[in-house]
Amino acid sequence: MQEQIDKAVDVLKSGGLIGLPTETVYGLAAAINIPQAVKKIFLLKERPFFDPLIVHVTGIEQAKEVVADWPQLAQVLAEKFWPGPLTIVLKKQLHIDSLITADLETVGVRCPAHPLAQQVISQAGVPLAAPSANKFGKTSPTAAEHVRAEFTSESVFVLDGGPCQIGVESTVLGINATEVLIYRPGMVSAEQIAQAAKGAGIEVKVSYLSSMASPGNFKEHYMPRKPLVIKKGQGQLTTGQRENISTRLGVRPEHFVELKLPQEAALAARVLYAEFRRLADQEGDYILYSVGDTLLDEQFAAIWDRLNRAASLMLF
Ligand code: TXA
Ligand code: MG
Repeated sequence: MQEQIDKAVDVLKSGGLIGLPTETVYGLAAAINIPQAVKKIFLLKERPFFDPLIVHVTGIEQAKEVVADWPQLAQVLAEKFWPGPLTIVLKKQLHIDSLITADLETVGVRCPAHPLAQQVISQAGVPLAAPSANKFGKTSPTAAEHVRAEFTSESVFVLDGGPCQIGVESTVLGINATEVLIYRPGMVSAEQIAQAAKGAGIEVKVSYLSSMASPGNFKEHYMPRKPLVIKKGQGQLTTGQRENISTRLGVRPEHFVELKLPQEAALAARVLYAEFRRLADQEGDYILYSVGDTLLDEQFAAIWDRLNRAASLMLF
């Protein structure tokens, strides 16, 4: 494995891109101090330049080299949730390329827990900018082969770190004196964040920022290769729903494959994207997901967010 890590670091240092395993999803990573490499991320992903990238660091010390202020609350949250699936958006230092931050004054920093990600960043000696390693708007990769399949003709060295343990992207949040704003829900929940702050004697209001607060928060995102239809309740499709499906999507309503998710949120998150891919490869015109009541629980917030954005049609 050390050989693979050395190769990954060589690629990064010479301005190339790698598929970086993290505990959430695989990233498409570049060294933050090589602007051409950072630019390549946007080109390969076909990602608009107004959607900022997350900077991955080995820990709090390195985060402080990226951000201009490190408030007490950032310290508390980083101590509690790093390394792990939490991205903290803070004022950036001047030297951080505006391409990374899409011209914003802020930068998102995250310390990933995957040991290979840790080793690569530390050996590279520089933080890595990395979005999820999928084409823009498509399903994020949770295994090395997903990254290879996404970038077949482009030059990306994929470091194989096995399947991702968490399976959905990190919680992205912004901080001010009295408030934490969640830009993107992840498996670190609003409740856990409030608890952690409270435990350190900081009273904050934690709320979800809706819609475009995060430039990457598009309604249509995470799309599987077949349309996803979401309906409420476990019963059969009604005649009205069938008609809706065929007129809106131009598919045969009876030709679907069904998405089933584990009852436990952590397990559901782990398999969600792999299931999107597996089902898209099967016979059938579309993927159908029937929503049960548990999906509305707080610990399913991240999963529900992704399903919502991935859906081509919601039947409610
Ligand atoms: O788990 C993850 O976060 C994965 C792994 C690879 O670390 N990365 C990831 O990156 O999901 P990406 O680029 O697919 O999503 C990053 C999100 C985008 O929605 C982006 O708009 C938001 O974070 N973001 C980044 N910097 C921001 C900033 N300065 N202000 C607001 N939102 C920001
Ligand atoms: Mg993404």
